[in-house]
Amino acid sequence: MTIPIGTLRARFGIVHGSFANQRRSSGVRARQFETSVPHPARPKTRRPPARPDTKPAKTLLATLLVAALAAASELPCAEPVIANPYARTALALDGAWRTIVDPYDNGYLDYRLQPYDAQEKPTGGYFLDRKPASPSDLVEYDFDTSPELTVPGDWNSQSEKLLYYEGTVWYRRTFDRPESPAGRRQFLYFGAANYEAEVYLNGRKLGRHVGGFTPFQFEVTGGLRDRGNSLVVRVNDQRRPEGVPTVNTDWWNYGGLTRDVLLLDVPAAFIGDYFLQLKPGDASRAAGFVQLEGAAPAAPVRIEIAELGVSAEAVADAGGRAAFDFALPGASLWAPENPRLYGVSISAAGDRVAEKIGFRTIAARGSDLLLNGRPVFLRGISLHEENPLRGARATSEDDARLLLGWAKELGCNFVRLAHYPHNEHLARTADELGLLLWEEIPVYWTIHWGDPSTLANARDQITGLVERDRNRASVVIWSVGNETPVSPERTAFMTKLIARARQLDPTRLVSAAMEVRRDPSDPNRAVVEDPLAELADIVSFNEYIGWYVGLPDDCARVSWAVKYDKPVIISEFGGDALQGFHATPLTRFSEEFQADLYRKTLPMLERIPQLRGMSPWILCDFRSPRRPLAGIQDGWNRKGLIGANGKRKEAFFVLRQFYDAKAAAEKPR
Ligand code: GCU
Repeated sequence: MTIPIGTLRARFGIVHGSFANQRRSSGVRARQFETSVPHPARPKTRRPPARPDTKPAKTLLATLLVAALAAASELPCAEPVIANPYARTALALDGAWRTIVDPYDNGYLDYRLQPYDAQEKPTGGYFLDRKPASPSDLVEYDFDTSPELTVPGDWNSQSEKLLYYEGTVWYRRTFDRPESPAGRRQFLYFGAANYEAEVYLNGRKLGRHVGGFTPFQFEVTGGLRDRGNSLVVRVNDQRRPEGVPTVNTDWWNYGGLTRDVLLLDVPAAFIGDYFLQLKPGDASRAAGFVQLEGAAPAAPVRIEIAELGVSAEAVADAGGRAAFDFALPGASLWAPENPRLYGVSISAAGDRVAEKIGFRTIAARGSDLLLNGRPVFLRGISLHEENPLRGARATSEDDARLLLGWAKELGCNFVRLAHYPHNEHLARTADELGLLLWEEIPVYWTIHWGDPSTLANARDQITGLVERDRNRASVVIWSVGNETPVSPERTAFMTKLIARARQLDPTRLVSAAMEVRRDPSDPNRAVVEDPLAELADIVSFNEYIGWYVGLPDDCARVSWAVKYDKPVIISEFGGDALQGFHATPLTRFSEEFQADLYRKTLPMLERIPQLRGMSPWILCDFRSPRRPLAGIQDGWNRKGLIGANGKRKEAFFVLRQFYDAKAAAEKPR
């Protein structure tokens, strides 16, 4: 039910002042200026890449970092995932899958709540994909007559009944084995499944994956039938306190096989992974490695970049790794205004992978951010992995082009992908369109810092993200979390994640969205003080002055205390507006209020001397179960600059104007 705009106007006829001082009773907590009171299994060990020595230990935190680095390489890590699956021979298993919604996990647990797949000879379980052997045989499920859901895709937006559903859904897909010369290997690859997935092939369990936003795979060589393979996946998206994220988020808990499913077919010895970027400290050279799987020792590996006349060779060591360091004569460096990608061909042991890589450097020097050695201001916007027009998870290249196209239209050169790893299409499209990216893992608000399984989970997610996207020129910042409350446990937890990101990738910057607190002695003084800021390369924080705290007019009175000689990025600011609702600038949820908030926030932020970028909250409205305000939010967070209907709000143009001026000022004379 939409309430006519007239009624909204009547509802908000309240004048300035009465609204400002009240905290919203809807339980949305006033975020800023609160004094922050402190209150955190992978079968195969993978050899960590060589990493230049860390910065000299300065403080306890540096000692923590060193300890974490040492610890990092001991911890077991997940089965490595084949890099660049879209460039491999593959059978796409996308499309219609038969599904069974199973709120009681009846297909997984027997009536004594014991998992069927733990039984020697399972007596039940939907993963068996059984058919009655005779008319009198009792089988109380049948995938062939069950409803279909589209993969990739969340289940919530595909059926009214499933919009709020959290629990188990069984997915089943049958397929025939594609032609493949003898001796090759096959892997089932999942781009992601939210939140936990148990995977079965022809009734046999392949394994389990936890975490809704990173890829995973299982080898099925020798396990395929010529015809009628039954692939069954139990997907469960129940939120859990020890999870990452935990039970409380301001985004929709979209469940399902939300990304592509592929049957990869590779040679017996193949190129498993690779990482190639400009050599830290010498932008005239490329450095990196190629990791072979199943190859004979000392296998020769070749990297060719035809457009640059590059052909470099190296020999893999006993572990299958070949290190590269070669000149890149005449390379045009990647940048938003020049998103130059080069065709890179990697070949070894009879396998060959074609990749597209842009070469650029990113660094922080004092409070400057340097892209290819030149100061850059990040004209950004935040984004959820959602297509508002469908009210669904964004899954495809088309979705990526739509969303990033809007960001370009806004005048952006930077996008913060919040709060979890988005799909690979987004990062690859950003490479092409020329948008710098901030990528993040869902260590969001208050998770179980002291729980080792929570740490292992978060560590798997940063590992999965970095390993998937470290060849993307667009990605410049890894973020290890958002609005996490300061405490020694939390900082130790985050320190390990920072160490892991740096261990896997010495070429990028690391940060997290921190919080601002009020100076108790001066209410208009905003203080950014967080032990994490000591460790991070960039000091980023979210601020909601004028929305969760005060009104836009208050911005003029605010002074900033940010003591770090580091680049500052405002990772969030903004306020809700219902597209099409017009009223006075003091009327909340009106476009005028939001536009006024932007007009008054931008100059306030420009008073921060170290300001080098921002990613306002948020490009477009997005679904959130925490936003019930009827007739206005209706289950949507309305802080978008673009409505769920795709229409631009007034503030969109306020920000674009600001960015156009910034871009003009940055243009080399
Ligand atoms: C937070 C949080 C976002 C949330 C936003 C809001 O800062 O990081 O996830 O959606 O504020 O309240 O709209």
